Amino acid sequence: MNSDDSFSRLDESDDSIFYTTDRFVQHIDSLALETVERIIGELVIEDNPVILDLMAGWDSHIPSTIQPQKVVGLGLNRNELSKNQALTEYGIHDLNKDPSLPFPDTTFDAVLNVVSVDYITKPIDVFREVGRILRPGGLFLIIFSNRMFEQKAVKIWRQSGEEERVLLVEEFFNRAGIFTSPQVFVSKGKPRPKDDKYAHLNIPSDPIYAVYAEKSGGGRSKRPDLSLIWPLTDLPDPEELERRKKAVNDTLQCPHCNEILLKWELPQNPFTEWDMEFLYVCFNDTCPFLVRGWEVMYRQGNMGLSYRFAYNSDRNQCMSVPVPNLHALKEGIVD
Ligand SMILES: C[S@@+](CC[C@H](N)C(=O)[O-])C[C@H]1O[C@@H](n2cnc3c(N)ncnc32)[C@H](O)[C@@H]1O
Repeated sequence: MNSDDSFSRLDESDDSIFYTTDRFVQHIDSLALETVERIIGELVIEDNPVILDLMAGWDSHIPSTIQPQKVVGLGLNRNELSKNQALTEYGIHDLNKDPSLPFPDTTFDAVLNVVSVDYITKPIDVFREVGRILRPGGLFLIIFSNRMFEQKAVKIWRQSGEEERVLLVEEFFNRAGIFTSPQVFVSKGKPRPKDDKYAHLNIPSDPIYAVYAEKSGGGRSKRPDLSLIWPLTDLPDPEELERRKKAVNDTLQCPHCNEILLKWELPQNPFTEWDMEFLYVCFNDTCPFLVRGWEVMYRQGNMGLSYRFAYNSDRNQCMSVPVPNLHALKEGIVD
C-alpha cells in the first residue's frame, strides 16, 4: 500500500471524460443487487436518515423500508444522477481531484459507497472526510463485488485477490483513525439467476462484500450483526441426521440436493494421507451445501473456500471435501 504507484490507474485521464458516457446498466446481477439492498436495509437503522450516496449513479439501492429525510448523491455523470429516483439532491464532484467533501461536519447519518471504492486514488483522505461529515455513530458502508472498469481501478485493487480487497478496505477504515473497528459481511457462491446475461458461463452470482464501520464517539452500536440475523446453518436433529445418512447409503444421492454422487478418485501424493481410494462426491455446482459453504468458511476465517458433500462408502461416513473453486476435484471423477 505504500508503493508510490499503488493508486495509479491504466487510464490516468480526467475521470469526468470516462464517466461522460451514460451507463444506465446494473453493474452486478439481480441476486447480488437484492443482497446489496438487503444489507443497506438492515444496516441503516435510523428513522428518516440523512444519507449520502458517494460515487452515485442512477440507482442508490436504498430499499423502500427506509424512509430517508434526505438522500444526497455525489458522482460524475449528471444524466445518471438526475434520473436517480432516490436522490433529493445531487452534485458533481471529482473525489480524485478533490477528496474533501462539500458538506459541514456531522451532516449525515449514513454514507453509502456501492461498487465504487476501487476507483478512489486517495482513499485515506476520502475516508477521513467521510468521518468528518458523519455524525458520531453514523455508518460508512462500503459494498463491492469483483467486477470493475479495469482502466479506472487503482493498481493495488487490480492486483489484489478478492479477500485481500476486504483487508484493504479495512485498512482504509483503520488508517482514517476516526471509525470503530470495521465489520465484514460476505455473500458469495450463490447460483447465478437463470435470466442473467452471463448465465451460460456457469459461474456463480456476483459476490458481495460489505465492509462497514461507525464514526467513533457514538457509544454502543445498535446495528445488527448480519451474520447473526442471516444465519447460514440450521442443524437438523440427530434422528433426522441418521435418517439422511441411511438414505445416502441406500441411494448414493446427495442429501442436500438429491443429485447422484459421482465416484471420485482421491489424489495420492506425498502430502495426503488418505487411507481409501474412492469417495462419492456431489458435483452439483448449485448444491445448497456447496453454496452455503462459501459463506460458512468465510465466517470461520477460511477465506476463498467452500466444500462439496462427500460419502465414504467403506466406513458409511458423510464428510466434506474443501474446494477453492467450482472446477477443483473434477479431474478425479471416474464415472
Ligand atoms: C461502477 S459505477 C457505480 C455507481 C453506483 N454507485 C451504483 O451502485 O450503481 C462507479 C461510479 O463512481 C463514480 N465515480 C468514478 N470516479 C469518480 C470520481 N473520481 N469522483 C466521484 N465519483 C466517481 C461514477 O460517477 C460512477 O457513477
